[in-house]
Amino acid sequence: MANNLLKGKKGIIFGALDENSIAWKTALKVHEEGGTFTLTNAPIAMRMGKINELAKACGTEVIPADATSEQDLANLFTKSQELLGGKLDFVLHSIGMSPNIRKGKEYGDMNYEWYLKTLDISALSFHKILQTCEKQDALNEYASVVGLSYIAAQRAYPDYTDMAQAKAMLESIARSYGQRYGEKKKVRVNTISQSPTKTTAGAGISGFDAFYDYADLMSPLGNASAEDCANYIVVMFSDFTRMVTMQNLMHDGGFSSSGITHNLIERISK
Ligand SMILES: NC(=O)c1ccc[n+]([C@@H]2O[C@H](COP(=O)([O-])OP(=O)(O)OC[C@H]3O[C@@H](n4cnc5c(N)ncnc54)[C@H](O)[C@@H]3O)[C@@H](O)[C@H]2O)c1
Repeated sequence: MANNLLKGKKGIIFGALDENSIAWKTALKVHEEGGTFTLTNAPIAMRMGKINELAKACGTEVIPADATSEQDLANLFTKSQELLGGKLDFVLHSIGMSPNIRKGKEYGDMNYEWYLKTLDISALSFHKILQTCEKQDALNEYASVVGLSYIAAQRAYPDYTDMAQAKAMLESIARSYGQRYGEKKKVRVNTISQSPTKTTAGAGISGFDAFYDYADLMSPLGNASAEDCANYIVVMFSDFTRMVTMQNLMHDGGFSSSGITHNLIERISK
C-alpha cells in the first residue's frame, strides 16, 4: 500500500547486509514510497552480503564505504549527489558492530582496542556522516537523518557489553548534532530505539533468543519487526514529521513503559 510519501526525495541508506537487515526492509519501503537513494555498506560486508540484489530491485547503485573512514564518506556523499542529481533529503545510519561481542568477551574482560572500534563503527560514524554532510552542504532543509538505537543505552543488559555505551553515544550525538544542524540548516536528526530483531547483528548477542522472548512478553503490542521499523523510518523521512528532531524515539511495542504485563505474569506463574 504505497502512498508516495517520499516522492521526489533523495537519500543514502547505510547497512543493508541481507534480507533480514532493518536497512534492507527500509530500502524496499522507501523505494515503494517513491524515494530514490544509493545503498552503501563496508567493502568487506559487501563481499559477503547480497546488496547487489537489493540494488537491482530498487533500481539503484551501491557505493562501498567504511563508515569509519572520512575519505570513504566524502566520496560516498559526493558520488551520491552526482548520481541522484542534487542535495539529499534523508540518510539512514543502520550500522552496528562490536568486535568484543563477536569474540565473546565478557564485560569484565574487554579488549580496549576493540572497545574503541565498537564506538567508532557504531556511534562515532554517525558524527562522521553528519559532519561530512555539513562540510559538503549535502542536505536540503528539513532533511531527516535517522540512526538506530537500542534500550541498552538506558538500561543494563549483561551481554550487550560495549554496545551499550555505543548506543548511549549515538543517542547523544543525535541530540548535539540535531541542535547544531537544526539551527544552521533546519536539518533533523533522531534515533529510533528498536525492539530486539532477528538480524545478523541481533542474533550475534549471546542470550538473544531469551531477551527477544522476554521483550515480546513485556510489550503490550509484542516486539516491533524489522518491517514495522522500516515503516516508521519512512514516516521519519517524510514531511509528516518535519518538526521532530533531537529525539530518541521508542519503537518497541510499549516495552519501555511497561513494568510487567499479564503475558509475563502468566509465563512466570507456570
Ligand atoms: N537487531 C536488533 O535486535 C536491533 C535492535 C535495536 C537496534 N538495532 C540496530 O539496528 C542497526 C542495524 O542492525 P541490524 O539489526 O539490521 O543488523 P545487520 O547486521 O543486518 O546490520 C548491521 C550493518 O552494519 C554494517 N557495518 C558494520 N561495520 C560497518 C562499517 N565499518 N561501515 C559500514 N557499515 C558497517 C554491517 O555490514 C551491516 O550491514 C544497528 O545499529 C543495530 O545496532 C538492532
